Amino acid sequence: MKAILLLGAPGAGKGTVAARLVATTPYRHVSTGDMLREAVKAGTPIGLEARAYMERGDLVPDAVILRMVRERIEREGPAGAYMFDGFPRTRAQADGLDDLLAGFGAKLNGVFVLVVPREVLISRIAGRRVCRTCGAVFHVVNLPTKVDGVCDRCGGVTYQRPDDTEATVANRLEVYERQTRELVDLYRARGILFEVDAAGSPDATRDRIAQVLAAWA
Ligand code: AP5
Repeated sequence: MKAILLLGAPGAGKGTVAARLVATTPYRHVSTGDMLREAVKAGTPIGLEARAYMERGDLVPDAVILRMVRERIEREGPAGAYMFDGFPRTRAQADGLDDLLAGFGAKLNGVFVLVVPREVLISRIAGRRVCRTCGAVFHVVNLPTKVDGVCDRCGGVTYQRPDDTEATVANRLEVYERQTRELVDLYRARGILFEVDAAGSPDATRDRIAQVLAAWA
């Protein structure tokens, strides 16, 4: 089993670059944000618990996240390669992931932190639109749909995430600095951190990461 992480502030482009990497590498995409949004939509017990945290832009409790990720890996099996997006986000989650991987005889192979200036993060989040049906991500300026409000991929309706409001975004960025940023130092100290300039196009970011992954193959 191989495991990599995409780390970075809200709006850095983790989900966008993950979708591109999945198309060209053997890594499967595990986004805790996407899993939580699905749980909220389906009204599962995890979704009911997570909803209020997400609407405020706060982190969902570590135990909930770790259980959700463990169940996903157990369901899909440890074979193959995993690309985690938006997880871990706290030191406790990082330790939990190490334990989880060790249980499968694996360890973290690399961590890619997407580096983007704050003003770019904010404009990316403000313009983000997501398909209600298939989850495809667009941007009103950077990656617009061909028909306004209609998903290019499946024809579903696009919407603005409820946590993409100005007040919630400010909290999410602050939460990243306070609770997640320290993981950059943790993984740098382990020698597995790759800092990726992600201010350019999604393809340029994808290519930078794919180059490192190809060197491991
Ligand atoms: P989550 O969904 O993980 O949100 P996030 O980390 O805040 O990240 P985003 O989804 O906002 O951004 P992204 O980096 O994926 O950017 P994207 O590719 O969409 O988490 C949401 C919430 O769930 C959290 O606040 C928390 O409550 C909870 N949660 C999730 N995981 C958790 C965990 N592990 N522990 C506890 N709680 C957790 O791109 C953004 C926009 O920019 C898009 O419109 C896109 O089209 C555009 N764009 C992307 N790249 C580029 C580019 N290179 N150039 C131009 N535009 C671009």
